[in-house]
Amino acid sequence: GGLVWRGCAANCDAEDGTAGTLTDGNANPGDKLEGSDAAPDDPVHLKRRVGLFSGVALIVGTMIGSGIFVSPSGLLERTGSVGISFIIWMACGLLSLLGALAYAELGTMNTSSGAEYAYFMDAFGGPPAFLFSWVSTLVLKPSQMAIICLSFAKYAVEPFVSECEPPNALVKLVAVISIVMILAVNCYSVNLATKVQNIFTAAKLVAIAIIVCGGAYKLILGNTRHLQEPNFASSTATLGNIATAFYTGLWAYDGWNNLNYVTEEIKNPSKNLPLSIIIGIPLVTLCYALVNVSYLAVMSVSEMADSEAVAVTFGNRLLGPLAWLMPLAVTISTFGSANGTLFVAGRLCFAASREGHLLDILSYVHVRRFTPAPGLIFHSLIAVAMVLYGTIDSLIDFFSFTAWIFYGGAMLALIVMRYTKPNAPRPYKVPIIIPYVVLIVSAYLVVAPIIDKPQWEYLYAGGFILGGLLVYLPFVKWGYSLPFMDKITVFLQMVLEVVPTSTTFE
Ligand code: ARG
Repeated sequence: GGLVWRGCAANCDAEDGTAGTLTDGNANPGDKLEGSDAAPDDPVHLKRRVGLFSGVALIVGTMIGSGIFVSPSGLLERTGSVGISFIIWMACGLLSLLGALAYAELGTMNTSSGAEYAYFMDAFGGPPAFLFSWVSTLVLKPSQMAIICLSFAKYAVEPFVSECEPPNALVKLVAVISIVMILAVNCYSVNLATKVQNIFTAAKLVAIAIIVCGGAYKLILGNTRHLQEPNFASSTATLGNIATAFYTGLWAYDGWNNLNYVTEEIKNPSKNLPLSIIIGIPLVTLCYALVNVSYLAVMSVSEMADSEAVAVTFGNRLLGPLAWLMPLAVTISTFGSANGTLFVAGRLCFAASREGHLLDILSYVHVRRFTPAPGLIFHSLIAVAMVLYGTIDSLIDFFSFTAWIFYGGAMLALIVMRYTKPNAPRPYKVPIIIPYVVLIVSAYLVVAPIIDKPQWEYLYAGGFILGGLLVYLPFVKWGYSLPFMDKITVFLQMVLEVVPTSTTFE
């Protein structure tokens, strides 16, 4: 039912960002559901624990991950100009803010089930909602995982290969190992995953603080040379190039919609949801602006564009004997992000299959550990394949392209519902111009790169989305199942020691 979905999504997203502000450390999947048998549709049963502070922390904690440590080089490379890069960084922040404000209307209007899935269901009906859960399970969540783990690997091997470029195979191997470790943590216990999340969230804030203070120190010493050459003229930006540069920047901001998964747990959501967004996203934008300035206070434009790991170059220049702090802080930060992302991915997959939208086995939980092991393993397998066959940049393009189709879809859902449900209560109403602007920008973001420079990634992504319909019709709408499915399910159940959730929850 709705509450189950909602409870899990809410619970796990808490972990994604600020963990600890939302959970008291005993977050078994079953816990949330106690008492839900009384009134399945009554959201009153979820405790409203997220105040303004935790709301802001949740947004900031989810958004800051790997991106700010890997994207600046790529963005500079794609635009060829410091000035344009900086404008794009700020524009990405603005776009995330506008998108999130529109999500605030959606989230306060429909609080009964998980984010996009629910809005699509309301506005367009079953098939688009199914396609969303299908794509987030098969593409969005695994590619987030793969990108973050590749970034982790890049930073983890960097100190050991000093000046030369780390061998590609080594980076991929380390990325796969990190996926396996995170999978183990999340399959082992929910408590452990929560603790990892708590500790590692702090690390990323320390890393940002070191970079900003270091940069400020350099600027005070008068090292402003690289900042005085915005190079607008030398820009290599075409329209398509700008769109992919946006992909790179927007990756660093991804997660701006994550508070929408916990709407039900927010105290006074019609006030605190928009307020957390208005405070949290500009805060992240400010951090990213300062970090970019700091990088340039320490290295030149070409050094930054060429750097395999800008934060390491930064540390080597500035921290002397403490240079090792930088790669350490970044690996910890990315490991934490990946952990939070898998945590959410597992719950999402688990929720979608409970709705009959994915294979049953994916919704089962481990008999003693209560972790949704099959879903986690499934995601990790796809993420490993992506790590083996992709690169950070190609995966970011692949991810952003797909994600912005759905973010754009959510804007359309908002606009459509203004007409189809004009009288539904909207505790927070966004100026209607905002979703239109975001919709137009997302259409540009999706179309421009295809026209400018067609890549296989876009075709794969399109194929995945449409492929979803081939699955939806026979298996969801008409209710067929494959002949051997039952046997396979039973076999996997015995191997993995998992059971249907109904025995735990209902
Ligand atoms: N913005 C994050 C980063 O820079 C990625 C967040 C992934 N998205 C998510 N919803 N967990 O690494």
